[in-house]
Amino acid sequence: MAIKACVFDAYGTLFDVAAAAREAAAEPGQEALAGCWQALAETWRQKQLGYSWLRAVTDTHDDFWQVTGEALDYALAEQNLADPLLRERLLALYFELSAYPEVPEMLSQLKASGYTTAILSNGSPDMLSGAVTSAGVEPVLDAVISVEEVGVFKPDRRVYDLVETHLGTAPAEVLFVSSNGWDAAAAAGYGFQTAWVNRGGLPMDRLPWRPAHELTDLTPIPDLAGRL
Ligand code: LAC
Repeated sequence: MAIKACVFDAYGTLFDVAAAAREAAAEPGQEALAGCWQALAETWRQKQLGYSWLRAVTDTHDDFWQVTGEALDYALAEQNLADPLLRERLLALYFELSAYPEVPEMLSQLKASGYTTAILSNGSPDMLSGAVTSAGVEPVLDAVISVEEVGVFKPDRRVYDLVETHLGTAPAEVLFVSSNGWDAAAAAGYGFQTAWVNRGGLPMDRLPWRPAHELTDLTPIPDLAGRL
């Protein structure tokens, strides 16, 4: 079935989740962070995702901004870097997280070709608005959909259902794009057409479902949507 809408995961897919730690580490006075920012960013991300999954399976919801802060507290403690000012700085950078360089042009091309474009993310409405505004991509997005509407995190099916609710598209008319292997896989199981953006050359997740397409960045998305 032809694609009508391209729907993107936000964190890690459009926005570079390592950027906050990398940018803070380059600031004056951050020598301690400069020595460990990659490890901090990795733990921050893994704990953020783990805490979101644990909430989903225990039916205990808090928004993604709180989960992101708690995951950061863990990561800072692991590096012996617990410091309120550093925490505040990292969260400020995360709120306006940098987009990958190809994102604005790729979204513009999709809009010019007549596709509906949207974000479907664990992010709270506030943090998504911060990242979308700072990347300047608001004009090329038709919808920014947050899991807060259903109060549960991905990969709960109620989250993927939000695409049809908002855009009126059947799952098979949607190209869902995520750099998170588990999200791309679960979205394939749900019934979306799927592309996994594998920037790091990681192995495919061993799950009951597999994304149909694998890319190294977002540049080929308009071409892929046109071929499906
Ligand atoms: C999101 C997380 C999974 O944006 O990265 O939904």
